[in-house]
Amino acid sequence: MVFVTTFAVMMEIETALIFEKNAIPQGTVAWQSPSNIALVKYWGKKEHQIPCNASVSFTLDKSVSKTTVHYTPSDSQAFQLAFYLDGERNEKFEKKISMFFQSILHLQPFLNQLSFTIHSSNTFPHSAGIASSASGMSALALCLCQIEQNHFQTLTNTDTFLRKASTLARLGSGSACRSVYGGLVVWGETSACPQSANKYAVPLTENVHPVFHDYCDTILIIDAGQKSVSSRAGHELMHTNPFAVSRFRQASENMEILLKAISGGDLDTFIRITESEALTLHAMMMTSEPSYMLMRPNTIQVIERIRAFRSETGIPVCFTLDAGPNVHTLYPAIHKKEVLSFIKNELIIYLYNSLMIEDGTGNGPKNLDV
Ligand code: DP6
Repeated sequence: MVFVTTFAVMMEIETALIFEKNAIPQGTVAWQSPSNIALVKYWGKKEHQIPCNASVSFTLDKSVSKTTVHYTPSDSQAFQLAFYLDGERNEKFEKKISMFFQSILHLQPFLNQLSFTIHSSNTFPHSAGIASSASGMSALALCLCQIEQNHFQTLTNTDTFLRKASTLARLGSGSACRSVYGGLVVWGETSACPQSANKYAVPLTENVHPVFHDYCDTILIIDAGQKSVSSRAGHELMHTNPFAVSRFRQASENMEILLKAISGGDLDTFIRITESEALTLHAMMMTSEPSYMLMRPNTIQVIERIRAFRSETGIPVCFTLDAGPNVHTLYPAIHKKEVLSFIKNELIIYLYNSLMIEDGTGNGPKNLDV
């Protein structure tokens, strides 16, 4: 008994979050949560999903995962789970979620008393090659917090609820911790944002110029194939990348510069830093050991056409990339008509199956009726 208590204290286990033996509940909860696109990139992490540098992202609006979690008492001493993507059992994700649950048991020990059936679907097409880990893991983390709140009433305050959801989501996938909030979101300690933290994300509620309240992101699908190197493996390679130290320093400086530009509505600086961050992310892949490339020839064609269009028209449209070949086209809402017609006339030939997703800044996750 003494050992158990000491062990619990050492691991900081939330011992209050355990059901009475004969009162293990059942129920259903559901949340939808969006994907996000980073402007300053998280690339490189330490143990327990602590980022090597701070990052900032736009939470998207239309690209969301919807997740329903049904839970009943477990018939063993450990959690059990079945995961379905679009109605089909998916063992690959089941393994990932199992590892995620293992990593959060100290924060929600009651998970081991339950058996879970999880159904998830994404609004963006499967074939788009868009990472769903941010939206999927954040939706799942929100569901788990909902279960905690429904049965222990420990997360009644919205800020506390979202902070715990962000903390859990981070342990599932780093970028997922930013999807818990709408608008612009910062993750990782940075002097540019005093309330920022390594273990959870915080929303940028003040110091955001109105031009960024409804910023557009048209996602251009260049290639929908499976990535040759996962983000998880890519982060790992930063441990031996010869440019890692200067990259982390540059990211910190970029956070300062970009957050100032976001506060003042300085679009020239916003574009300069956002594009440089996207290219630096891919430069890190190209300088890893072993090196690899996720951009495709059409990624570069599209980037060059966007830059030419900007210098010909003066319209402040820019690009960013995530860890893949697709291009996110970012621009203020007042230029939507011109930019969409430019994309439809000039960029469509570079896209996979003419596929694009007209998205933009969104307000964050929603609790769904069950
Ligand atoms: C390039 O969050 O997918 O999108 O923590 O291993 O799950 P894990 O990685 P992940 O990495 C995202 C990398 C990025 C940049 C970003 O979103 O900041």
